[in-house]
Amino acid sequence: GRTQRRQSAPCYGSRALPEPQACGVVPEAWRFDCYPERGVVVTRELCEARNCCFIPASSSPPAPGRNGVPWCFYPPGFPSYSLVSVNATDLGQTGTLVKTVKTYYPKDILTLQLELLYETDNRLRVRITDPSESRFEVPIAVPKATEKASSPAYSVELSNEPFGIIVKRTSTGAVLLNTTVAPLFYCDQFLQLSSSLSSQYIYGLGEHRSSFLHDIHWNTLTMWARDVAPTELTNLYGVHPFYLAMDEGGTGTAHGFFLLNSNAMDVVLQPGPAITWRTIGGILDFYVFLGPDPASVIGQYLEVVGYPAMPVYWALGYHLCRWGYGSSNATWDVVKNMRNYRIPQDVQWNDIDYMDRSLDFTFDPTAFSTLPDMVKDLHSHGQRYVMILDPGISSVQPEGGYWPYDEGLRRGVFINHTDGSTLIGKVWPGLTSFPDFSDDVTHEWWYDNLKRFHDKVPFDGLWIDMNEPSSFVDGSTVGCPDTELENPPYTPGILGGLLRAKTLCASAVQKTSSHYNMHSLYGLLEAKASARALKRMLGKRAFVISRSTFPSQGQYSGHWLGDNRSHWKDMYTSIAGMLTFNLLGVPLVGADVCGFSEQTEEELCVRWTQLGAFYPFTRNHNSIDQKPQDPPAFSPAACSAMKQSLLLRSSLFPLLYTLFHRAHTHGHTVARPLLFEFPKDVRTYGIDRQFLWGKSLMVTPVLDPGVDYVVGYFPQGLWYDYYTVRTHSGQPLHLVSSLSEDGSAGGELFWDDGETGSINTITFTSSLPIASYITVETASFYGVKVEPTRVMVNSHDAAFTYRANQVRLGVRSQRLSVF
Ligand code: NOJ
Repeated sequence: GRTQRRQSAPCYGSRALPEPQACGVVPEAWRFDCYPERGVVVTRELCEARNCCFIPASSSPPAPGRNGVPWCFYPPGFPSYSLVSVNATDLGQTGTLVKTVKTYYPKDILTLQLELLYETDNRLRVRITDPSESRFEVPIAVPKATEKASSPAYSVELSNEPFGIIVKRTSTGAVLLNTTVAPLFYCDQFLQLSSSLSSQYIYGLGEHRSSFLHDIHWNTLTMWARDVAPTELTNLYGVHPFYLAMDEGGTGTAHGFFLLNSNAMDVVLQPGPAITWRTIGGILDFYVFLGPDPASVIGQYLEVVGYPAMPVYWALGYHLCRWGYGSSNATWDVVKNMRNYRIPQDVQWNDIDYMDRSLDFTFDPTAFSTLPDMVKDLHSHGQRYVMILDPGISSVQPEGGYWPYDEGLRRGVFINHTDGSTLIGKVWPGLTSFPDFSDDVTHEWWYDNLKRFHDKVPFDGLWIDMNEPSSFVDGSTVGCPDTELENPPYTPGILGGLLRAKTLCASAVQKTSSHYNMHSLYGLLEAKASARALKRMLGKRAFVISRSTFPSQGQYSGHWLGDNRSHWKDMYTSIAGMLTFNLLGVPLVGADVCGFSEQTEEELCVRWTQLGAFYPFTRNHNSIDQKPQDPPAFSPAACSAMKQSLLLRSSLFPLLYTLFHRAHTHGHTVARPLLFEFPKDVRTYGIDRQFLWGKSLMVTPVLDPGVDYVVGYFPQGLWYDYYTVRTHSGQPLHLVSSLSEDGSAGGELFWDDGETGSINTITFTSSLPIASYITVETASFYGVKVEPTRVMVNSHDAAFTYRANQVRLGVRSQRLSVF
């Protein structure tokens, strides 16, 4: 056993115990946990066996390993690495780190290679690797610098003994990283790096249910993709080891940090302020981004992991879904009812109940016999259809065979046990095998399946669920072997206490590496396969919404925030989730509007629809066995309030689309925290009940029952009430410009065909001297260098004039309406 191993005497050199005085000088806020193992009551004896300091803290004893001042912590001078040589390289420096004393975890790597890469003026990369053996590295493409940054905004100091890196902002001297605060660990399955934080203002570190601004009071955020309803202090569906932090001193400057590592990990925040990254595999490969403002930090992070894809235009619309419509006719009735009420609905979805016996790539021949007709009807009304797919492929042969499984076996696409047999888990259809999306052969097979199904049901986009991957049994139906991968010397604080809890064996074999290393990449790679297949099949931008996510996800999919509850609190926390995913480069994000599990109430559903009208991705989704919660299911007054908010959203599509284009081309956020536009105003740092779309549209939603007012914070500036300046909706395009105090206004619109981006690409900005409401029946485009032969507006010819000397295209049309 594991417990025994943990509690046995350490196998490292005999050192004297730390002097009590040396322990006593370490302030509580700076005590770094020497005994993070869960389920162990740390005694003085256990702690001192690790040569650590044992001092029961002044506060009440923490739950083991979590949320309190650690009683067992590293003393000053605890053995760590020394930097023994440094050499200049083309891109920075390289060095050798050595350590002579082993730690209490197995397989210390005593010699390490350090690489400092001055990649750009605002981006530093640091890699610490094992020079004698290659270790797992995350298989996502990151940019390769070819020359050293010429005038970096950062300076790097190296401490030799103990080894540490100190990164400062040159312009202010602010310390952004200082890893000398605690010992560095680099064992085969236990890598740990701590650093001071520049301030207590830290964001990101998704996916967790928490406030937008993280609490640094002994807060452990564990990362390991997991299927569980959003719960505090629990690892959830997505893994994103990235944070944005404000610099010290409230100057408004910000920086970022990204650990490119996919192994199960704990991220510990403590009031020092300090952070500890504790991961159980891979290498230490991290980036520091210098900003200097929060938005630039995000842009720089997204330069590394990739800008988000431009969504297809209809993705912006209102999506309606539930688990348990029960039949295609019942689904169709909901759509028809929405039409009767003239409530904007762009997309209808189906959950697993459309499938025949829960099998992917099938539809229930009885209850959903009219599905193809419904989809045709949606298309003839300009609406779209999206259905769910789960990665688990039934491994039980239904009568007549099951092509996805048979063919998958033939092509060898499934994840195996170490002995080469197919790993079998359990999901909705019963026994299932799991495609290995790290293999291109699987991508081809996935495409073939989609194509075959599309020939029957011409769907427009995909909802990929359960891709943590989730299984109803731990590991597999036959368990998992007892190996170091299954039972690592240290297991981060993951729900269930085991890596295999409700997922596959960590030792399972994938093309690229073991599941131990690849687990949290499953959703990313499935999204990549899905987006690729859709593009290839439809020749348009792909629409994919994924539950599990990893850095670079935004290139392939959006995300919904999982199985929330129909509670007011869940509506509130959705704002933090939405903002966090915007920092993480997945701006197409939203929560299940009105709540997924438990019965919603009318008032909550109205308020949620009003908030959801400002999610970049808005979908009403409901669990099985709950009463309907689509707008017409409520009273006329409630239904009409929901309709109004959805009409308002529709009228703002041009703005939203433009923001997505900015995200796609510049790495901007779409839904944005106030602090991005007001970084010098410390009062904005904790705001997560309000947010912005772009620079200047502020949303202050009602988040509490029984009120008809809200209290919001207005940062300095001139603010207009959108409802009173707004002109009528449902008419030709209106340009609303709200002037700044100096009487100027500026804006931008991006417009194209909405699906391929190949035609009608127009970008314009305006700067107007007066407040105006403009009905756009005419439009002028300056800078059009070639006279067009024909101008089409909404598929109809439009009259136009062209003045070559002004490079101006003038268009007149009653059809310039874009709503
Ligand atoms: C779990 C998903 O999170 C939820 O949205 C879906 O309704 C169920 N699976 C059933 O497919």
